[in-house]
Amino acid sequence: MFGRKEHLGIRGGHLFVEGVDATALAEQYDTPLYVTSEAKLRKNIRGYHRAFPHAEKYFAVKANGNLSILRIMAQEGMGADVFSAGELALASLAGIPKERILFNGNSKRDDELEMALDAGVRISVDSPEELDVLSSLAKSRGQKAKVLFRVNPDVSVKTHPKIATGLKTSKFGIPAASVASVFRRAIETEGVEPVGLHCHIGSQILEISPFVEAASKMMDLAAEVVACGCKIEVLDLGGGLGVQYHPESPAPVPADLAAGILPVIEKRAREIGISPQLILEPGRSIVAESTILLTRVNVVKEAHVSFVGVDAGFNVLARPMLYDSYHHIVVANKADAPATGKYTVVGPICETGDVLARDRALPEIQRGDILAVLDAGAYGFSMASHYNGQPRPAEVLVSEDETEPIRTREGFSALLACQRIPARLL
Ligand code: LLP
Repeated sequence: MFGRKEHLGIRGGHLFVEGVDATALAEQYDTPLYVTSEAKLRKNIRGYHRAFPHAEKYFAVKANGNLSILRIMAQEGMGADVFSAGELALASLAGIPKERILFNGNSKRDDELEMALDAGVRISVDSPEELDVLSSLAKSRGQKAKVLFRVNPDVSVKTHPKIATGLKTSKFGIPAASVASVFRRAIETEGVEPVGLHCHIGSQILEISPFVEAASKMMDLAAEVVACGCKIEVLDLGGGLGVQYHPESPAPVPADLAAGILPVIEKRAREIGISPQLILEPGRSIVAESTILLTRVNVVKEAHVSFVGVDAGFNVLARPMLYDSYHHIVVANKADAPATGKYTVVGPICETGDVLARDRALPEIQRGDILAVLDAGAYGFSMASHYNGQPRPAEVLVSEDETEPIRTREGFSALLACQRIPARLL
C-alpha cells in the first residue's frame, strides 16, 4: 500500500507509524506534528552502507537538523555535510567525529571559517578568494587546513530549477576549467593542504545518468590535477538522489546509484593511478520517507473548489509553496476509506500560495480529521519559520510501539525570545 514505506500501515482504518496510531499521536501531542520512524531511518542508512561499503556517507544536515536524528546518524556511522557554523555545532553535539565532517558553503564568514578551523574539520573551498582568506586565517593560527575544492561540473539535471546546483549558471563552485590551476596554486599556499575535489549537482534527481556524467567529469578533473603533480585523496560527489513523493514517480535506490557511478570511478581511478576516498552526501534519500507531518482540519469550505483548511502551512512545510512539490496525503483517521471527492488542502498562512496539495482525491473530510502529509522528513522542520506569528511544531520519534518527543512544541515565548524593546518605546 505504501510501497517502500514499510514503516507505514493501516489498522482499524487508522494510519500507523510502526506500531503507533498516528491519530492517537495527534491527540496526545497536538498538531502540527512531525513523526519520524526510527526503523525507517536506520534502514535507509544501512541501505547506503550496503550499496557503498567503501565510501564515507556524510548526512546533509540541512535536510534535518534534529539532534536525536543526528545522534542516530552518528550511531550508524554517518558523517556530516554541514553548510554553516550552526550545522557544524549540531553535528559535533550529536557526536559525529570531526574526521567525518565536511564544512561546505559558498559564502562563508570569517568566524565560520575560524570555527571550522577550531573544530579541525575539512573545508570545501568554493572560490579562489576563499582559499586566500582561509590561508591567512589558518596561517595566523599556526594551522594547516585540509581543503577540497567545490567544482561546478556543468551538469544539467531534471529537477526543480531552484534545486539544481551543478549548472554552469549556478552560484556554487569553481568552474571546471579553472579547478586544476586553483588546485596547483593551493599546493604552494601556506596554511592549506588541498586533498580533493567536491561537487553536488542538485537535489531530488530521479535519474542515474546525471550522476554518472558528474562522476565522469570529476574523474577527468582528477586526471588533470594529478597530471599537474598534485594528489587526489578524496572525491566527494555530493548528494541528490531523489525519493518517491508521487505514487507514480518511482525513485532509484542507493544500489542503482552505486551500479551507475562505481564502475566509472573505479575504471578511471585505475587508469589515473589513484585510489581516492569516495564521499557521498545524501540528505533527502535518508530522511524524507522516515517522517510524516500530522495536521488537523480546521475547516472545510465549498468555494471555487473544496478547500480543506489545516493547521500546517508553508510555515511548517515550505516545499509545496517553494518548489510546487507533491507530498502524498492520507487521512490518518480514515486511512482505508474510499475517495469521495477532490480537495485542495491549504494552510493557515495569510498568502494565496499557502497550498499544501491541490485537487486530491480523498475520503469525505470533516473538521477535526487528521491529515498525514507523507515524506516530510527532509527539508520539512529544517525550513520551518515563525511567519504569521506561528510557533514551530513538535517532533516525535517512533520506535516499534514507543513514542518519544525529540522536540517540544514552541510556545509564544519563541516568537519573543530575541526581541528587545528600547526603553523610549515603553
Ligand atoms: N551536499 C550539498 C553540498 C548540498 O547542497 C545538498 C543539498 C546536499 C548535499 C543534499 O542533497 P539531497 O541528498 O538532500 O538531495 N530545500 C530543497 C532542497 C535543497 C537542497 C540543497 N542542497 C527541497 O526541499 O527540495
